[in-house]
Amino acid sequence: MTDYTLLGRQLDALLDTPDWLTNSAQTCALLMQEIPALNWAGFYLQRQPNMLHLGPFQGKPACHPIPFDKGVCGAAARTRQTQRIDDVHAIADHIACDSASQAELVVPVVVDDRLWGVLDLDSPERNRFSEADQAGIESLVEIFIARTTF
Ligand code: SME
Repeated sequence: MTDYTLLGRQLDALLDTPDWLTNSAQTCALLMQEIPALNWAGFYLQRQPNMLHLGPFQGKPACHPIPFDKGVCGAAARTRQTQRIDDVHAIADHIACDSASQAELVVPVVVDDRLWGVLDLDSPERNRFSEADQAGIESLVEIFIARTTF
């Protein structure tokens, strides 16, 4: 069970510049290191309308680009709601970048009412992400937003 309060303090201390590129790279590196059973952690950025471009990440090379109308990441971007998927194989339009991925959590990153991007976590374990993981990771995204100039 991950202690998200502690992880939040670590993230807050780690993000000591306001630079979005540095902070997004550091954030996914910390999550990959500290959260058990992940095979991918990273950001997709909305750099042109309704399209997600691959940003800083940890894990295998990934799918790029992802339109808002495709996949779990697209659903998170489109709806601005966290997508918590217990079994990615049950999702018809899930985009499989790595066949090892079984569960996925995608948190939208909304800054000043603009969808800046999403944070995507993949796990090789089905049912990996609980409601507590969702709340914890959403709180980490809030820290990332608060510490960053976009
Ligand atoms: N599975 C995602 C694509 C991104 S990768 O998992 C890194 C999706 O369906 O949107």
